Amino acid sequence: MTSCQNKVCNPFYGEQPEQWVTEKVSAKVKEVLAEMQLTDDVLRQDMTVFEQNIERGLKKDTHPDSIVKCFITYVQDLPNGSETGKYLALDLGGTNFRVLLVDLAPGKCDLTSDIYSTPVELQTGTGIALFDHIAASLADFIKNHGLENEFLDLGFTFSFPLLQKGLRSGTLVKWTKGYNIPEMIGEDVVKWLREAIERRGDVKINVCAILNDTTGTLMSCAWKNPKCRIGMIVGTGHNACYLEKQSNAEMFDEPDLGSGKVIINLEAAALGDDGALDFLRTDIDREVDAESPNPGKQINEKLISGMFLGEVVRKYTLKFIKSGDMFGGKHDDVFSQRGIIQTSFISNIESDQTGHFDYCKQILAQIGITDASEQDMIDLRYICQLVSTRSAYLCAADASVLIKRIGEPDVVVGIDGSVYKFHPLFRRIMKEKMKDLLDPSFKFDLMLSEDGSGRGAALVAAMAAMRAA
Ligand code: GLC
Repeated sequence: MTSCQNKVCNPFYGEQPEQWVTEKVSAKVKEVLAEMQLTDDVLRQDMTVFEQNIERGLKKDTHPDSIVKCFITYVQDLPNGSETGKYLALDLGGTNFRVLLVDLAPGKCDLTSDIYSTPVELQTGTGIALFDHIAASLADFIKNHGLENEFLDLGFTFSFPLLQKGLRSGTLVKWTKGYNIPEMIGEDVVKWLREAIERRGDVKINVCAILNDTTGTLMSCAWKNPKCRIGMIVGTGHNACYLEKQSNAEMFDEPDLGSGKVIINLEAAALGDDGALDFLRTDIDREVDAESPNPGKQINEKLISGMFLGEVVRKYTLKFIKSGDMFGGKHDDVFSQRGIIQTSFISNIESDQTGHFDYCKQILAQIGITDASEQDMIDLRYICQLVSTRSAYLCAADASVLIKRIGEPDVVVGIDGSVYKFHPLFRRIMKEKMKDLLDPSFKFDLMLSEDGSGRGAALVAAMAAMRAA
């Protein structure tokens, strides 16, 4: 572990990309990496592809074959601040699994949360094992926090593609982000949770809503800022949701409760699964995809999210080692190991003040390299910068499409996820690029979501419970 892992550790937050010292980057590295630099024209092309895919996902006749699924979430309202009461929330789908108790009152949202691990064996084992673990963690939380005698409503943030049939029911369409339990595909996840709870018999709760982490992010940010209309994740995975008119959401099949709107979970990660983003992918992207657990799937995510950015950096570095252009041609054994470059390394390497290599040296030492030259570290940092900047640009393109679609003059985008949170320049790069891509008549802001998945799950549960009461 580097000393600044999982902390916002960069004292130079705010440093402009223009201040990057690029003249010292070796000519070969610069030349090869030119393919990672997306011009505004390329990004506009990406936006057109995304926009067309959203249209296809929303429309009844094109939805079945659409790539970007635009799933209906059945959440019709954003919070209005009157949500009150104690709720439980489960958050499964990022790096950690969390159980939370959320105490809501006007202007107040107190969170108590515990993190439980979900070992890889559980992510790729059986449905029963995974859900028994979830129920056991829930029971443990309830006991540890003295909640045995309360009958609480629970919101379940389940961050995988879900075809919902209402707020309380959703069938799993496919696994993503390293999870793979084939027997659960097509199964109602809420039913599995309820049954696991019943098997234990020691937990009294009411599962009253299931939602995606993007919805959680939008809800929690909208609770704080009523201009929020978009939720985005740039973490282990990448996805976005937004508030759409029911009249445009042709797959929506419930009565309007009054807002005329509904949140759409885009499942934006799948953009490009039909080859539509091939014009901007590189050979390295294709290699990373081919070696991933799900080749050909989640193409947009593989260009953007934390699960893959480290791999892209590793692959470029390996290429330069093999051509003798980095590390004196040595250490290909290290850089041949899949997963050795974690995405947090990128954030840390870029957190070094320009011209200094303190974090970079720590990280290299951590993977067994102590003989890097200054040139190697300059080049490595440059690779990291281009990989993270491309991710931020593509997020900017996604968010700009949604802002244009919503059409309101002043919109806030709520964003969660480790890449957005911990990369020292991500927000700034993304925001600047959005200014280039959007007509200046659109005002917008990017808002960091704190505990969005948990808080948002509680808000959705609260709104459902208060409506049922
Ligand atoms: C993956 C999931 C999606 C989730 C995203 C961010 O793309 O399929 O549901 O929102 O990761 O966690």
